[in-house]
Amino acid sequence: MKILIIGGSGLLGYKTAKLAVKLNHDVFITYLLRPMKIEGSTAFKLDKCERDSVFSLFEKVKPEVVIDTAALHNVNYCEAHKDEAWKVNVEGTRNVAEACKKINGKMIFISTDYVFDGKKGFYNENDEPNPLNYYGKTKLEAEKILRSLELEYLIARTSVIYGWNPSEISGLKSSSGKSMNFVIWTLKKLRNKEPVQIVTDQFSSPTLADNLAEVLLVMASSNKSGVYHTAGKSCLNRYEFALKIAEIFNLDKNLIKPTTSDVFKQVAERPKRCCLDVNKAEKDFGVKFLTVEQGLHEMKKQEP
Ligand SMILES: NC(=O)c1ccc[n+]([C@@H]2O[C@H](COP(=O)([O-])OP(=O)(O)OC[C@H]3O[C@@H](n4cnc5c(N)ncnc54)[C@H](OP(=O)(O)O)[C@@H]3O)[C@@H](O)[C@H]2O)c1
Repeated sequence: MKILIIGGSGLLGYKTAKLAVKLNHDVFITYLLRPMKIEGSTAFKLDKCERDSVFSLFEKVKPEVVIDTAALHNVNYCEAHKDEAWKVNVEGTRNVAEACKKINGKMIFISTDYVFDGKKGFYNENDEPNPLNYYGKTKLEAEKILRSLELEYLIARTSVIYGWNPSEISGLKSSSGKSMNFVIWTLKKLRNKEPVQIVTDQFSSPTLADNLAEVLLVMASSNKSGVYHTAGKSCLNRYEFALKIAEIFNLDKNLIKPTTSDVFKQVAERPKRCCLDVNKAEKDFGVKFLTVEQGLHEMKKQEP
């Protein structure tokens, strides 16, 4: 399959591209601020906000499948920079979707559990989105664009992605505004013996990037369409997640102190119970999502 991965320098895009090369697909990737080379793939610099550049790249590559992982997803940054968040996450995604339609490609768009308000928890694909913060609003708006175009598409909603990322290797900061995922941040703190305060009132379904990459490539070759929840199998709060990290990497759990969101007062409101029900994706694609224990053990095995 000819696959174009937008955001190949990001955690999920990088893992997906590496696996796609291994599986002998014809792989093309894009990066923005962090030049990225993945052996066996062809890389292009691309800003998805530049409509003409998006269209000309699609005409040149003519991918059968486009996996769009690129976004501004620093939630507080999006709240404070709404125009920029809209431009990248909504208008940029529109450019990708319309260019994809023009070349008759299929698009897989990565969305988020933050499209939900976190009041119900364990959301399935029939639950009504109601984002609390601006980042969630932009991702939901992008989902609507995909639905409104007559385009072959899949929306993969995911949650708290973790894994060894390319920034760890390159040291360069991403244009997404994030360069460290929660597991890497926690490992750094605990290994430096620094105490950390972690909230007990935000539940999610942490997702190993490698696991999601596998699922995305199965989705890419399927004939299904529509929205899918694609996340880790465990539902736990951030404090419990941090304790699991300490346990599996043999670090001092006593450095992790529980706290609650109201103590932190973050710029953007976070939904409290955002776990995703992944049964539909497991059934339709014949895939398995990992628990947090399985994912962290896998990450430990891969430590660079
Ligand atoms: N991370 C999470 O916990 C999480 C949770 C739920 C959903 N998601 C969604 O999952 C997707 C992947 O997340 P991730 O953690 O892999 O992200 P990431 O590591 O921060 O990577 C983001 C990628 O997007 C690229 N990018 C940013 N702005 C761009 C633009 N204007 N044009 C083209 N490329 C641009 C970055 O390029 P450079 O680095 O080269 O600048 C990078 O390759 C995102 O869509 C995010 O919304 C993430």
